[in-house]
Amino acid sequence: SPPAAGAPERLPFSRVTEEDLAFFRKILPGRTITDPDLVESSNVDWLKSMKDFFSPAGSSEVLLRPQKTEEVSQIIRYCNSRNLAVNPQGGNTGLVGGSVPVYDEIILSTSLMNNILSFDSISGILTCQAGCVLENLSLYLEERDYIMPLDLGAKGSCQIGGNVATNAGGLRLLRYGSLHGTVLGLEVVLADGQVLDCLASLRKDNTGYDLKQLFIGSEGTLGVITAVSILCPRKPKSVNVVFLGCETYEQLLKAFQLCRGMLGEILSAFEFLDSECMRLLNTHLKLPNPISDCPFYIVIETSGSDPKHDAEKLHNFLEEAMASSLVSDGTVATEESKIKALWSMRERVTEALTHDGFTYKYDISLPLEQIYQLVIDMRQHLGGRAKSVVGYGHVGDGNLHLNITSSTKDPALLAAIEPFVYEWTASCRGSISAEHGLGLKKRNYIYYSKPSQAVGLMGNIKAMLDPKGILNPYKTLPDDVK
Ligand code: FAD
Ligand code: MLT
Ligand code: ZN
Repeated sequence: SPPAAGAPERLPFSRVTEEDLAFFRKILPGRTITDPDLVESSNVDWLKSMKDFFSPAGSSEVLLRPQKTEEVSQIIRYCNSRNLAVNPQGGNTGLVGGSVPVYDEIILSTSLMNNILSFDSISGILTCQAGCVLENLSLYLEERDYIMPLDLGAKGSCQIGGNVATNAGGLRLLRYGSLHGTVLGLEVVLADGQVLDCLASLRKDNTGYDLKQLFIGSEGTLGVITAVSILCPRKPKSVNVVFLGCETYEQLLKAFQLCRGMLGEILSAFEFLDSECMRLLNTHLKLPNPISDCPFYIVIETSGSDPKHDAEKLHNFLEEAMASSLVSDGTVATEESKIKALWSMRERVTEALTHDGFTYKYDISLPLEQIYQLVIDMRQHLGGRAKSVVGYGHVGDGNLHLNITSSTKDPALLAAIEPFVYEWTASCRGSISAEHGLGLKKRNYIYYSKPSQAVGLMGNIKAMLDPKGILNPYKTLPDDVK
């Protein structure tokens, strides 16, 4: 069927032939998947929204499952020579349509590249293949008294290569910083099949341009990440989580200020959700509110090295926050099961939304004071047209997740949301993608956050590294940059 309005035209890549399949089967015996039933789940994104986005989306017939860098190199070299398009795929939890093919691109999955290559228990530097699942890495490290510097709700499925390719933020960024700081080295297969070995595991290395940075957040468009070296923090000896309620967003911000001042170096997360999120958690996941009903909820995590010292600091903060009426109710958790239960109130909002209907997702960076105003303005702007308009996110990082649902896909609602949401964001000099990337869905809105000169330079970099454009075509860069 012809592509729907707004969908990209299929570019003139070759189509996979029997000879191509014979080549892949020789390199990857038993790991060249063509059974449509087995390929299907790799054609469908986590949100199951791409087929709604436009009709032939996700029609790949080939799924390749390499185990070694050398296999990836051989595949990519061959695809480049044959002009075959390739979609690198990790855990397929991406939220912007970057992880699944648009047409018939070959899916190159890193799922079998899941070996830990080394761990230095003195420096805390972990080196592993790109397909290691984030949660498995966390479990491996915890046994050795370390943790991963990032954590996100999709940890059970997402892979470190996918995390790096999207420059995932998540729940610990406030404390440990972004992957641009914690990733020390990468191994990447370039579009011509060359293996770029920047897998250094040094804290400091100013020998020329820091090339690995280009691949962090490049969403599979510049190379296939095959291995990652990452700096891991020590496992904190004491972790506390508090779940608090606030009457207004202004009070929530004041609580954040107070919290930064009083908790200082032990603060490891400051997250929020609004009462609409709580309603969805109650309704769709049957998760009861652990405190009394409030317009806003905060999840604060502390991680430190001295349980007594941390408890005292937290106690003083809570006392002050209550005394100055910044928070109206709250509960504290120190044991692991309760910590998990409180975290799930924040982590499972994404899942609750999928049960509410068709979800329009926005992942916006804004100055802290403006974060919730966008939710209020959007509610007013949409009137009764949406089913739910909810706000949650990484308030400590200035990152709002604005999500809007409708019972079914609703083009009139979408026309009311966009470009309103992007214009609003641009007017505050915010970012239209804080942490999820641009993928297929957001790429044409890049100009709301980047000047055309910067986008042009991105196009030059893409043309230099991938002259035939075989790596994840139709993603990240807008239509007018080929
Ligand atoms: P995929 O979804 O498979 O791929 C994502 C992109 O990276 C695609 O463009 C793909 O082509 C590319 N890619 C994947 N692997 C490679 C590779 N080895 N080499 C080159 N390119 C590659 N994101 C956040 O930032 N913060 C969050 O808090 C967060 N929470 C989430 C919670 C839930 C419940 C879900 C479903 C998603 C969440 N996400 C979050 C989004 C998503 O999990 C992240 O973007 C994650 O980093 C993607 O990893 P993945 O392995 O699933 O990659
Ligand atoms: C989150 O912070 O929960 C994730 O980024 C997922 C989402 O935006 O729903
Ligand atoms: Zn997030």
